[in-house]
Amino acid sequence: MRLNRKNHILGKTSVDTFLKKYWQKKPLLIRNAIENFQSPITEKDLFYIAQDEEAISRLIEYKQGLWQVKYGPFEKSDFPKKKNAPWTVLVQNINHHFSFANSFLNLFKFIPYARLDDLMVSYATKNGSVGPHFDSYDVFLFQASGEREWKISDQKEFSLDKKSAIKIITNFRSKNSWVLKPGDMLYLPPNIGHWGISQSDDCLTYSIGFRAPSTFEIQSKFLDFIQDSLNTNKNYLYKDPNLNLQKDPAEINTNMIKKIQQTVNQLRWSKNLINTFIGQLLTEPVETAIFQRPKPISLEIFKKNLSKKILELNPKTRMLFIKNNFYINGELIEVDKKYAAYLRQLANNKKIAFKPSLDKKDLNALGITLLPLYLSGFIDFIQ
Ligand code: SIN
Ligand code: CO
Repeated sequence: MRLNRKNHILGKTSVDTFLKKYWQKKPLLIRNAIENFQSPITEKDLFYIAQDEEAISRLIEYKQGLWQVKYGPFEKSDFPKKKNAPWTVLVQNINHHFSFANSFLNLFKFIPYARLDDLMVSYATKNGSVGPHFDSYDVFLFQASGEREWKISDQKEFSLDKKSAIKIITNFRSKNSWVLKPGDMLYLPPNIGHWGISQSDDCLTYSIGFRAPSTFEIQSKFLDFIQDSLNTNKNYLYKDPNLNLQKDPAEINTNMIKKIQQTVNQLRWSKNLINTFIGQLLTEPVETAIFQRPKPISLEIFKKNLSKKILELNPKTRMLFIKNNFYINGELIEVDKKYAAYLRQLANNKKIAFKPSLDKKDLNALGITLLPLYLSGFIDFIQ
């Protein structure tokens, strides 16, 4: 894979300019983001993954004037013939299935991992499309094989097709359009109307998707998190030894209101607790991710492997950190400051090779920290 001039995927645009002028602000077309690109992922691969229980996949067809959608997992026979009405198959989280797809995402490291979602790949027959629509998240649309015309709009108001099972804009007005060839890429910030129409029978488009938690998600999950840390001693009961006779027995008296207000106001959370919540929230794995546990091994064998082999994150693993606190798939890992640099390296590069010269005490401490992660299937050795 050869990157264009500046040795990054944004072509002539520098990362700084991209972040200042385009990211979350306006679309950017990058011609030849990767020169002579040939997709290592083929349509056959895609159909194969779309049959997997764990994969999230959709088949979209435009038939008899209606946009129709079926959800996977699919069987081979579910895919229409190429000559049928135009159709598209889309499969999410392809980075969980192909190491190429996982390393392709590394080209987008200029955006923090906490914002990166997945690599979705679509295959479309000629004229295949998912219709004019907008997405709520940023996306890079990379043309991996065949050609696709992208039309984008600058309208702010959209009306949606009520009859359609997918989100379709009925008043789409195109402002710009381009035909993307293999290696070209289009960046779109959220809420830009767009319509991609395949121009060939071998159209593969990679969507590099980003995630952004909603205020509702943050607040409701935070309340769940706080709930989990509550004092669960149910013997602390409301007391009123100084009760006075009240005129209206149905009225909630002021003493009771004050006491319950005080109890509610006793709820406190520190910055550290919020940080733990943030780390856990942002490293929650995707809902469908299943981590296969390896055969259990002893600490001694694990340490031997650590000193010889490269350790890498499972492609489904999310690992992030705040200072010296590490979060992996929603779990906090406590680690001595002395070893934080190793874990930072593992989180940033998604792999690490420990020096054979690592002293016994350090190897032991790292082994004790990392073995449970290995046994959970979160990390593994490159064979
Ligand atoms: C596609 O790959 O067909 C659709 C991607 C998108 O519009 O977001
Ligand atoms: Co879209």
